Amino acid sequence: MRRLLITGGAGFIGANFCHYWSATHPGDRLVVLDALTYAGNLASIQPLIQSQRVRFIHGDICDRDRNAALLRDERIDTVVNFAAESHVDRSIEDPQSFLRTNVMGTHALLEGARSAWPRPAASGYLFHHVSTDEVYGSLGPADPAFTESTPYAPNSPYSASKAAADHIVRAYTHTFGIPCTISNCSNNYGPYQFPEKLLPLCIVNLLEGRPLPIYGDGMQIRDWLHVHDHCRAIDQILLSSIAGETWNVGGGSTEPNVRVVEAVCDLVDDEFRQRPELKTRYPSSAPAQGRSSRSLMQHVRDRPGHDRRYAVDGGKIAQLGFAPQTSLAAGLASTVHWYLENEDWWRSIVTGEYRGWYARQYTKES
Ligand code: NAD
Ligand code: TYD
Repeated sequence: MRRLLITGGAGFIGANFCHYWSATHPGDRLVVLDALTYAGNLASIQPLIQSQRVRFIHGDICDRDRNAALLRDERIDTVVNFAAESHVDRSIEDPQSFLRTNVMGTHALLEGARSAWPRPAASGYLFHHVSTDEVYGSLGPADPAFTESTPYAPNSPYSASKAAADHIVRAYTHTFGIPCTISNCSNNYGPYQFPEKLLPLCIVNLLEGRPLPIYGDGMQIRDWLHVHDHCRAIDQILLSSIAGETWNVGGGSTEPNVRVVEAVCDLVDDEFRQRPELKTRYPSSAPAQGRSSRSLMQHVRDRPGHDRRYAVDGGKIAQLGFAPQTSLAAGLASTVHWYLENEDWWRSIVTGEYRGWYARQYTKES
């Protein structure tokens, strides 16, 4: 039986991980530590809290003393660190909060482990840090995909803060013997994603009849990873528990943004064709108004310093037996369906602060 501390467990990937872990390892103890920033949503894990499958603690990973006390009191043997500021556009507007949580917060968690865990490390202890492929920077059209030995070259305040955190994690393994692993994954998508990231933003905007902002020419390439595949990959890493290792995790689906948004538009149109009642539920959407969803796509000013292409070489993690199982076509279809069926979840979010952010960010002119 493992005793896991899942930081950022009320966010997108963390919440999916809580559902995944609770279903696949029902005997394990799950404790979530989350500051509930704008990106944290307790509703995403409420059923797990209510059924006492998860203990939720509202708190900040930057509090090193609390981290140590929590690890001791709960006899945590496995930390999975998802907590972060995660949106590139916000890091351009406010870099400091990214340095605080992503760098200092990761450091404070490691300090908690250094204080609470036995040293030299007993077997069964692991600190897993969830990072991003963005630490490797941007690929040219003919460059090979990122491997674990690709040099770090982060380009945004977000990716720079994640790169810094990765280096600190590595240093704590090397210097203090804290058993750590790191995964650098590509763009996740799926249920419970906050609608500021490209795919949920487009789905929610489609349903509300708002424009779909395509930055620049829309030919930037991302490697799309379904979040359930990502959870399975982390499971493999925790099982293998090789301290000091890093693992790249990709979805094996590299597509330009504009193609992915077109696919989402077509999936929404198909759903509306098959289910006429959707026109009543979403009267402002393009298909309810007799137009194709693609008509909402709108090229807007590009993101400053926008990375052109990411692609992940999944060869190393394949040796652990991991391969993504969800094709992009199937994953997009199930994601569109999830947002159609979980209107309450996203409607409660797309108000207030989000509206202000949206007004500032997504009405950029080309
Ligand atoms: P998210 O923004 O949806 O969720 C982040 C969570 O962390 C939220 O619940 C938030 O409340 C919490 N949090 C933020 N600051 C905190 C603090 N100081 N203390 C405690 N909790 C805090 O992020 P996500 O998309 O779920 O990403 C999870 C992790 O995966 C991040 O580390 C991110 O860098 C990494 N990642 C994400 C993607 C992606 O496509 N979403 C891709 C690669 C890597
Ligand atoms: P995003 O979901 O913000 O993830 P990341 O920047 O971490 O890759 O963006 C995915 C891609 O989509 C990225 O190339 C930026 C682009 N994008 C748009 O074109 N329009 C948008 O409104 C957003 C949010 C992103």
